[in-house]
Amino acid sequence: MNKEEKLIKKIYSENVLKEWKRLIKDPFHRLEFDTTLKFLKKYLLKKGTILDAGGGPGRYSIELAKLGYNVILLDYVPENLELAKIKLKKEKVQHKIKNIIEGSITDLSNFKSESFDAVLCLGGPLSHVHPNKKRKKAVKELIRVAKKSAPIFISVMGKFGTISRFHKWIDEIKDTPHFRKFYVKGDDYQWHGGKAYAHFFEVDELKSLFANKVKFLENVGLEGLASPCQKEINKMAKKEPKAWKNWLEMHNKTCTNKEVAEFSLHFLIIGRKK
Ligand SMILES: C[S@@+](CC[C@H](N)C(=O)[O-])C[C@H]1O[C@@H](n2cnc3c(N)ncnc32)[C@H](O)[C@@H]1O
Repeated sequence: MNKEEKLIKKIYSENVLKEWKRLIKDPFHRLEFDTTLKFLKKYLLKKGTILDAGGGPGRYSIELAKLGYNVILLDYVPENLELAKIKLKKEKVQHKIKNIIEGSITDLSNFKSESFDAVLCLGGPLSHVHPNKKRKKAVKELIRVAKKSAPIFISVMGKFGTISRFHKWIDEIKDTPHFRKFYVKGDDYQWHGGKAYAHFFEVDELKSLFANKVKFLENVGLEGLASPCQKEINKMAKKEPKAWKNWLEMHNKTCTNKEVAEFSLHFLIIGRKK
């Protein structure tokens, strides 16, 4: 385990409840959750076994189990998996969870090739893998364990969407070498208040990791054009229901536009294993 991996493990083990609440805490965060679920439903087969890799405390695993899928949940952080066990039981779907495994997306040797009807790596686990060589290996592993023709869903933190939220991190922009490293390479060593590493992707960079083993299907901006304006979006959603309804309609129509995905705080790439 390298230094970056140790720090990431520490950060997530200290933020388990925060992570559990993250995707449903307000309308802005629900954009990521609801948009991802919409595209999972669009491409998943009616039934089968799904690997939720880097699945954290299991938000997506629970939803998929409720939809009738068999799920294997894998995450780096045991504290996340402990919470997942409690939540799965509470939702009465533990029988659909075939295994809960502490492990890394960079080494899926627990699983045989072509094991899963779909493979998920959602909400940015790949953004925490360092260096680039390991990210390539992780994607190779995610592809290896997918069955032929299975859909593969990977969502990450986007570079341009993050830059568009500049008002949140003026001090980091003032730090010239740090900011340059961020906007040129996508590398951020001050993620989570200076405590950990994250890699912020461009769309083509993530797509290129699929190489020639996966047919590209779609890129999706998960927060889309709402990305820079979290506070204002939450205000509109709470106080202006008509405007929010129209915004959601626009979001659903524009989120697959490449520029919108590029501009999004998180974006999702969907492919099908050849
Ligand atoms: C932002 S959370 C996303 C969790 C979940 N997929 C979701 O979308 O709600 C990122 C997750 O990636 C996990 N993670 C980070 N690096 C990982 C690695 N190398 N292998 C597996 N999981 C990893 C963390 O433990 C954390 O649960």
